[in-house]
Amino acid sequence: MINFLDLKKINAEFDSELKEAFDIFLKSGRFILGDQVSNFEVEFANYCGAKYCIGVSNGLDALRLIFEAYKTIGVLNEGDEIIVPSNTYIASILSISSAKLKPVLVEPDVNTYNIDVFKLESVLTSKTKAILGVHLYGQLYKVIELERFCEAHGLILIEDAAQAHGAVFLDGRKAGNVSDAAAFSFYPTKNLGALGDAGAITTNNSNLADVIFKLRNYGKKTSDTNDIKGYNCRLDELQAAFLLVKLKQLDFINEKRRRIATFYLNNINSNQIILPECKDIKQHVFHLFVIRSKSRNRLKEYLFKNGVETLIHYPIPIHLQKAYSELNELDLPITNKLHDEVLSIPLNQSLEADEIDIIVSLLSNFK
Ligand SMILES: Cc1ncc(COP(=O)(O)O)c(C=O)c1O
Repeated sequence: MINFLDLKKINAEFDSELKEAFDIFLKSGRFILGDQVSNFEVEFANYCGAKYCIGVSNGLDALRLIFEAYKTIGVLNEGDEIIVPSNTYIASILSISSAKLKPVLVEPDVNTYNIDVFKLESVLTSKTKAILGVHLYGQLYKVIELERFCEAHGLILIEDAAQAHGAVFLDGRKAGNVSDAAAFSFYPTKNLGALGDAGAITTNNSNLADVIFKLRNYGKKTSDTNDIKGYNCRLDELQAAFLLVKLKQLDFINEKRRRIATFYLNNINSNQIILPECKDIKQHVFHLFVIRSKSRNRLKEYLFKNGVETLIHYPIPIHLQKAYSELNELDLPITNKLHDEVLSIPLNQSLEADEIDIIVSLLSNFK
C-alpha cells in the first residue's frame, strides 16, 4: 500500500538530530519558554522575512490570538464582520467565531480552490473590518488583489498560512509576510511539522506582537505583572527544539514536493480528472495535491483497490456542519461542488520514484 503520508518515515530522516535536540532540552532543565522557543522565534521570523514571531500552542490558537489581539488594541470589536473563504479547514472559521466576530463566507475560485477575489465586493458592509485569507493546500491566495482590496476599504488582512510554510510570492515575500499578521500550524502532517501540536504568529506590527506575546502567557510578557487578561497558549519548549531541527530542511523539502507536483501536473492525463491550477510553482508548497473528479468516490475506491491511499480535504463543507447551524442555509454551490469532487493524492518528500510512477499511471488509466 502506498500510504497517503508516512510520518514515521518522514521523521526517520531527522532521527539523530531530533534525539540530540531532546538531550539538550532535557539537560537544560528549562521546559517552558526557554531558549528553544526564543531561538525558534528568531529563526522563523527570519525565514518568513517578518520582524516578529510569537510561538504558540497550535494553528487555531495562532489565528484566535491574532483576532483577540486586534480586539485588545481596539481595532476590532465584538460583532465585526470578517471575510473568510467558505472552502477552508474549519479552524479558520472557528478562530473568528470564538473571538466573537462574525465570519462572512466567500466562495472559492474553482480552479485554484482559493478565495474568489471577484466576489469580495458583494459581501462588503459597513461592519466588514478584516479579511482572513487562506493559502489553501499550500498555494498563496491572490496577494496583490487582496492587499489592494484591503487598502481600498481600510480592512486588516490576516493570513492563514497553516498549510503554506515557505511559499514565495513574485516579489520575494514569503507566506507569513504578505499580510498584517499571519498564523502558522506545525501540526505533524504539515510541511514543517512538529512531533505534537505547535503553532506561530508572524507580523511586522510591534504593537500587535507585544500584545500577542502577553496573550499567549496569562497576559504577561516577562515579569509577574499581568497587563491584560491572557491565556495559556505557549509554544512547547520541546516542540520548538524539534522545529529548529526541521526548519533547516524546509526549503529542500518544499523543492522536492514541487518537483513531484510538476511531474504530476505534466503526466497525469485522464479526461475523468481535473488537475489543480498553479501558474507559478514558487507560490505553492504543495502541502496537498488535490485533484477533482465527477466520479470522486469511484476514483478513491479504484485507487484504494490498487494500493494507493487517498484522503478528502474536506468531506463536509463548514456551512453544512451541525456546529455552524446558523450558516446551514447559505447558498454556496461552488463550495458544495468542490467538496463532492476533491481528492488528495499522496505527495510528500518520502515518496519513492516507483510509487510516483504507479500513482501517475493509475490515474491516467482511470476511465
Ligand atoms: C488552513 C488551516 N488553518 C488552521 C489550522 C489549524 O491548525 P492546528 O491544527 O495546528 O490547530 C489548520 C490545520 O490543521 C489548517 O489546515
